[in-house]
Amino acid sequence: MLEGEAEAPSNIAIVKYWGKRNSALNLPLNDSLSISLEALKVRSKVVFDPELSKDKVRVNGVKLSDEEVKSYASRVLDRMREISGKSIYAVVDSWSNFPSSAGLASSAAGIAALTLASSDALGLKMDPKELSKIARLGSGSACRSVYGGFVIWHSGARDDGEDSFCEQIFTHDHWRDLVDLIPIFTDEKKRISSRKGMSVSVETSNLMKCRLEFVRETLPSVLDSIRNRDAKKFFEMTIRHSNSMHAIMMDSFPPLIYLNAMSLKVIDSFGDGKIAGYTFDAGPNPHVFTLRKDAESVEKTLIELGATKVIKSDISAGPRVGKKGVDENN
Ligand code: DP6
Repeated sequence: MLEGEAEAPSNIAIVKYWGKRNSALNLPLNDSLSISLEALKVRSKVVFDPELSKDKVRVNGVKLSDEEVKSYASRVLDRMREISGKSIYAVVDSWSNFPSSAGLASSAAGIAALTLASSDALGLKMDPKELSKIARLGSGSACRSVYGGFVIWHSGARDDGEDSFCEQIFTHDHWRDLVDLIPIFTDEKKRISSRKGMSVSVETSNLMKCRLEFVRETLPSVLDSIRNRDAKKFFEMTIRHSNSMHAIMMDSFPPLIYLNAMSLKVIDSFGDGKIAGYTFDAGPNPHVFTLRKDAESVEKTLIELGATKVIKSDISAGPRVGKKGVDENN
């Protein structure tokens, strides 16, 4: 039996990935940019076992269906089997350090941790760029979780995806004053997956072309705002890029509405971008970026709006391979 273990951070996109040019390889229509988060991590343990007849995955102790395993984890494991020449199935166990009921997606961190753990188990010496390409096969956003700090995912142009990979553009300590506040608003509603949602948008949204142009034109100013630690510009760009993706969602048919009444209250409270910048993925819970000096007052507002809990996250230094994770080392 071959065993490996790794821990990877979740990431939140500032410039969003929404739309693919190739679904089998998760090749995106646009470049995206994310921040890896210290407070939201997933640890995965992989055991390749010659006795198994298929891959099996448990997330926080709950077994995934064969269909779910096939469309996410096995895409990574198949590639690892191909590279290593070892046709052995694996059992994967993943644990997040935050409750799955909080409505915060853990799949990107889970797939990234699985990629690192399986490469470790098979003794493959791969650099992060190669690992990001493999994590991408499992879930697009997972490729950004192979790194800490600020990460760019180059969409690439090739059909085989060899130029669609991530790289770190700034380390986690580049902007120490920046924090992410993640309020938890209870929301039980089961929403359409990002995978399905973005394919509906690609097929039906007329605004998609316009958004791709917007991303191309504004990515340099997002990068500049981070490089210069220009909070005002960064908050504005964070807000505009989130709104731009949600405009595409709304413009899809049938419309994709991921935001709820609570989300609109957050937009209303912080939309001027003066002390914070919000961003929403395919769900109603925001990530609210602010400077450390303003964190307390932003948190207070979020609680007043009805948040049951606010997770405060620093920027992650990156994943850890091996049995001992960040928590155990401290
Ligand atoms: C809204 O990575 O979950 O979070 O590649 O089909 O697995 P698949 O999609 P996924 O999409 C995430 C979309 C997003 C925006 C982002 O993270 O950039």
